Amino acid sequence: MERWKGRVALVTGASVGIGAAVARALVQHGMKVVGCARSVDKIEKLAAECQSAGYPGVLIPYKCDLSNEEEILSMFSAIKTLHQGVDVCINNAGLARPEPLLSGKTEGWRMMIDVNVMAVSICTREVYRSMKERNIDDGHIININSMNGHSVVPQSVVHFYSATKYAVTALTEGLRQELREAKTHIRATCISPGLVETGFAFKLHDNDPERAAATYESIRCLKAEDMANAVIYVLSAPPHVQIGDIQMRPTEQIS
Ligand SMILES: NC(=O)c1ccc[n+]([C@@H]2O[C@H](COP(=O)([O-])OP(=O)(O)OC[C@H]3O[C@@H](n4cnc5c(N)ncnc54)[C@H](OP(=O)(O)O)[C@@H]3O)[C@@H](O)[C@H]2O)c1
Repeated sequence: MERWKGRVALVTGASVGIGAAVARALVQHGMKVVGCARSVDKIEKLAAECQSAGYPGVLIPYKCDLSNEEEILSMFSAIKTLHQGVDVCINNAGLARPEPLLSGKTEGWRMMIDVNVMAVSICTREVYRSMKERNIDDGHIININSMNGHSVVPQSVVHFYSATKYAVTALTEGLRQELREAKTHIRATCISPGLVETGFAFKLHDNDPERAAATYESIRCLKAEDMANAVIYVLSAPPHVQIGDIQMRPTEQIS
């Protein structure tokens, strides 16, 4: 990780869960991390924790609703002004709403498409632009995918979510191919976890917190820190090694 010291990383959805753990780990490794989400107060708290822990890097909180393209573009222009640009992008923000294909609300589907697919694509395009204009040839774009992006489980509440994560699988491989065509050494990776214990299920089952809690009690889940370790592993690979996808489930998980 030595070569990433002092370089700029963008972590989307850095307020809680996986994004917060990834942001913390990157700051621990000396990176300058712009963490964005809507709940910027939580990122500010994390930034203060990182500072008082004496980590060598810094966390810079940025308020951004990723379902709004204008807000994403303003964030990139602020990063350009204040920190030159982005060298590592962790497209982590994402959500699932309980909207089955036969009865779901369009609004819920649209929210999942906007954050899980459109924001990933917009951030990726803007990050590539930022790397190119500064002649950065060793950048890295990491998408937090899901095992739901590789198989469809028989749970109607996650079918549409699963479709958005299949899109992330295609976007990551398509990006890898375009980066090769562009003759850069910028790398594209996705990490596809099974169940990770975060607030994710409480947002999916927001009308049934007991069901959400039961999700995480059924087996010994992955922790957000396990995801942060996977991100560090991916970034630590030598420049000639490109990890395409890390599929990781809790040992006790079946589907
Ligand atoms: N937990 C799991 O079991 C699991 C499994 C597989 C994959 N994943 C994937 O892992 C990623 C992170 O999930 P998590 O488990 O850490 O969930 P989480 O605890 O619910 O965190 C989600 C993050 O996304 C941000 N976010 C959501 N909508 C946003 C918006 N419109 N604008 C800006 N930020 C937004 C949230 O921030 P604000 O609400 O503050 O905006 C939050 O920081 C997601 O892509 C998810 O699909 C999770």
